[in-house]
Amino acid sequence: MMGFRKDPFCGLLVYICIGLCFASQCFADEVSADQTAQLTVNASDAAGRPIPETLFGIFFEEINHAGTGGLWAELVSNRGFEAGGPNIPSNIDPWTIIGDETHLNVSTERSSCFSRNIIALRMDVLCDASGANTCPDGGVGVYNPGFWGMNIEKGKTYKVLFYVKALGSLNLTVSLTGSSGQPTLAIANVIASASGVSDWSKMEVLLEAEDTNHNSRLQLTSTQEGTIWLDQVSAMPLDTYKGHGFRTDLMNMLLEMKPRFLRFPGGCFVEGEWLRNAFRWKETVGPWEERPGHFGDVWMYWTDDGLGHFEFLQLAEDLGAAPIWVFNNGISHQDQVTTSSVLPFVQEALDGIEFARGSTDSKWGALRAAMGHPEPFDLKYVAVGNEDCGKKNYLGNYLKFYGAIKAAYPDIGIISNCDGSSKPLDHPADFYDYHVYTSASDLFSRYHTFDKTPRSPKVFVSEYAVTGKDAGRGSLLAALGEAGFLLGIEKNSDAVSMASYAPLFVNSNDRRWNPDAIVFNSSHLYGTPSYWMQLFFSESSGATVLDTTLEAGSSSSVVASAILWKNSKDNKEYIRIKAVNFGSSSVKLNITVNGLDPNSLSGSSKTVLTSTKVMDENSFGQPNKVVPVLSLLKAAGNDMDAVLSPYSFTSFDLLKKSSSIKVLGSDDSSSRSSI
Ligand code: AHR
Repeated sequence: MMGFRKDPFCGLLVYICIGLCFASQCFADEVSADQTAQLTVNASDAAGRPIPETLFGIFFEEINHAGTGGLWAELVSNRGFEAGGPNIPSNIDPWTIIGDETHLNVSTERSSCFSRNIIALRMDVLCDASGANTCPDGGVGVYNPGFWGMNIEKGKTYKVLFYVKALGSLNLTVSLTGSSGQPTLAIANVIASASGVSDWSKMEVLLEAEDTNHNSRLQLTSTQEGTIWLDQVSAMPLDTYKGHGFRTDLMNMLLEMKPRFLRFPGGCFVEGEWLRNAFRWKETVGPWEERPGHFGDVWMYWTDDGLGHFEFLQLAEDLGAAPIWVFNNGISHQDQVTTSSVLPFVQEALDGIEFARGSTDSKWGALRAAMGHPEPFDLKYVAVGNEDCGKKNYLGNYLKFYGAIKAAYPDIGIISNCDGSSKPLDHPADFYDYHVYTSASDLFSRYHTFDKTPRSPKVFVSEYAVTGKDAGRGSLLAALGEAGFLLGIEKNSDAVSMASYAPLFVNSNDRRWNPDAIVFNSSHLYGTPSYWMQLFFSESSGATVLDTTLEAGSSSSVVASAILWKNSKDNKEYIRIKAVNFGSSSVKLNITVNGLDPNSLSGSSKTVLTSTKVMDENSFGQPNKVVPVLSLLKAAGNDMDAVLSPYSFTSFDLLKKSSSIKVLGSDDSSSRSSI
């Protein structure tokens, strides 16, 4: 049988093949295996160690247009006309003029009503509705194509907001159209008297789309002679996640991961190539119209900063994830401030923490409240910079931040950029960053990396991924290398407290970094195998890692683990055994689970991530080529024989106790079963 399946695995939203494993179809002994391994799991109540609640989370960086033109649902690119810089005349890209110079003059002026983003657009409309210089059909003006086309969907409503000023009365047409200006998907006229628009006025229009077009644009046009100034033009779908501005389809992909933390907003994005272009949180809060925006000079694109410090904290809250704020520590890729002049940066970090969790009487807590969130955000972790360890001023600067933050907020966990996994840190820290981008076989072999590292301070694997040739644009091979590494993290979760893949998102029109977990364009999206592999770990945070012994040859390509976790939906306990076969031969895995009631294993399932070729990838055309496939297990017991296909990841979810369900074939459940 085929269908959608949400439980008992992990709420997958993909097409998943479900089949009862009937004897003739999938018993292990039907398949010949080249190697054998024995996995023994101790499932007695006394065995096992609690896994940190925060173990698996996500790292969101503004890279690859992940936020701007991605998770942040704003459709207009360069909404304040600031991306060309503060000088005039400036470049208004991607805004484009509709009409020629006989009908229209378009220029930029430093005349906005917003002092922090002073550029406004001026349109001198030379033509009129009739007379010697009649405007072309549809009028003249400007259009914005969004981020490689706007996704406009039939029946959905879009809120268009803008600021306008005019000499004389205003008759402006606001429309959503196809990429050539046709067809019209939604349209409205904004009409105002001369006195109504003699000074800057805010206008709001709701447009309901009559048709769907994934490559649309927003037009502002007129057929009336006169002068019009425009600024801060925004178009947002009404149906963002909880009305908080996040694109719902991308948000749902994140929710499926059940992330326990959100590291934000970078990455190199936090550092900047130069300090003047680094992410500075104070420029990203308050009314969106007043935010200056900035050019991220590492990933080379402009962002209006609609997705700012507040929105990142809101995102974490909406995901049920602990926010982990990475701030600039006075160091970029190319320049840095000395420790003797770092105090303004320290104050900026303290103010950013106050913004997140200060009382509404505090300066920055009051701004948070004014933005709609009087309750504090649950900010408990901050990272002092990104990948800056070893730079000349890092240690000196770090110690200033550490001292000031611990004095003001003793409970906040502070993350150092210096890797303490191979030698002890020479400075105080609660956590240290560990980043790894490498080949699939190297990452797989890092299953053992944390076996012998000190258990304190804790490790934060804040960026890991297989990159290069093995990764393609997100291959099965990459996911399997990462799976081996994650099983090692799970095993060593008394040393590693948190782990996140990187990067999370890529807009396929701006693939600055490859590979990425979730690929999207204006309207479509899919998870790479690395995304799906992470879902196998979505129940691990806060679970119990069980004692396991794997007996396999020294050259074995298999690693495995077992956890005990509680499914909050059915309130039942499951044992999840995960095994990755990183080799090209199938492996017969004999599984023995000690400490279980032999009659308690019904309601169990098996989920496999594999494909016909190890370099297989998903794509917009084939989004589900490499996705987990779930089958219900008819026979499960204390002793089971399974076959791990070549290059595969398998999880067995065994219901630990079930008094109400009669085990199929339970009469002989003490004997070995093939699963
Ligand atoms: O994840 C992409 C980049 O890789 C991050 O910005 C940086 O921290 C790392 O070098």
